[in-house]
Amino acid sequence: MALTDIAWDAFLELDPVEKSRHLNQDDGRPFHVLMTRQFDRKALDTLGELATRIRFLAKTKEGMTFLAGLLPHRRAMLYFTQPSTRTFLSFCSACEILGMRIGNVRDTATSSELKGETKDDSVRTFSSYFDCVVMRTQVGGLAERMAWVLSNSERPVPIINAGSGKDQHPTQALLDIYTLQRSFEDCGGIDGKTVVFVGDLLRGRTVRSLSALLTNYEGVHQVFIAPPELQVADDVLAILDASHVTYEQGDDLAAAVPKADAIYMTRVQDEWDTEKGASAKIDIERYWLKETHLEQLKPDAVIMHPLPRRHEIPPSIDNDPRAVYWRQMRNGMWIRTALLATIFECDGDIYAFSQA
Ligand code: NCD
Repeated sequence: MALTDIAWDAFLELDPVEKSRHLNQDDGRPFHVLMTRQFDRKALDTLGELATRIRFLAKTKEGMTFLAGLLPHRRAMLYFTQPSTRTFLSFCSACEILGMRIGNVRDTATSSELKGETKDDSVRTFSSYFDCVVMRTQVGGLAERMAWVLSNSERPVPIINAGSGKDQHPTQALLDIYTLQRSFEDCGGIDGKTVVFVGDLLRGRTVRSLSALLTNYEGVHQVFIAPPELQVADDVLAILDASHVTYEQGDDLAAAVPKADAIYMTRVQDEWDTEKGASAKIDIERYWLKETHLEQLKPDAVIMHPLPRRHEIPPSIDNDPRAVYWRQMRNGMWIRTALLATIFECDGDIYAFSQA
């Protein structure tokens, strides 16, 4: 099934599982990357393995030269109209590792959207010059619309969602999973672990995407620690219920720390406040990780954060061996390289070269 088989209004009505069937190719390989539902356990294992191969190849000049020879004939458009540092730079780096050329728009004020061009027309323009569009936007659902428009145009190039609204951030969830895979590779993998999410769980799209992706693992227990106003939304819990995942919600960080195999900290997403200053009225300091918490944290647990951080993790914790957020950020580059290699079907070349 492809996006050409369905009208836009009918696609919008589908549930995420049905939608995801229209986004992957017949062999299960992603074409557009819009939502975490497109990735099952096998896809996650394969992507992680490929990222690790790439990571090792990238250590040598010979390996880097090989990788850079894979996609010099492909060009990527980075359409980032919402602030981004890590996602933007890691996608740039991922493209460059594979030899792709890049163009970008980071501000609609510098594009013809200011002249009144519709987003549908803008994305068709990008597809005239590029072979894929990586997009970050504050408009929820826009990446889906763009994917449908392109699939039904004469140049159907893939769209990769690099963060849409408060809703989805699938490639962040992929790098988070890769970080967990690496962190737990010597202690039973991700299955059976307890993941504690802390902070603004209502508006943090990274939490929404990771929580859903974790349902691919057996017996993962999810704990949501947040101020009541920022607790995780019901649609996230509905996915957990449907997958028979156990979870708990609360507001006591200290009580949750000893249970955690992974603590996933997040900042307050106050850019989404409907009333100016609303988030500032919340006692958020109760949800900051402190050095005193570390005494209660398991010795082989990990502390993660999608970054950017504010005060929820003090820099003094950075040197604790359980703090993996800087490595997590770098993992983003490897997993995005693996994703592009998969979309453009050069994963087989990478396996062949790294086995030689
Ligand atoms: C996140 C995002 O944009 O959702 N950042 C990121 O991509 N690493 C998290 C955030 O902004 O808090």
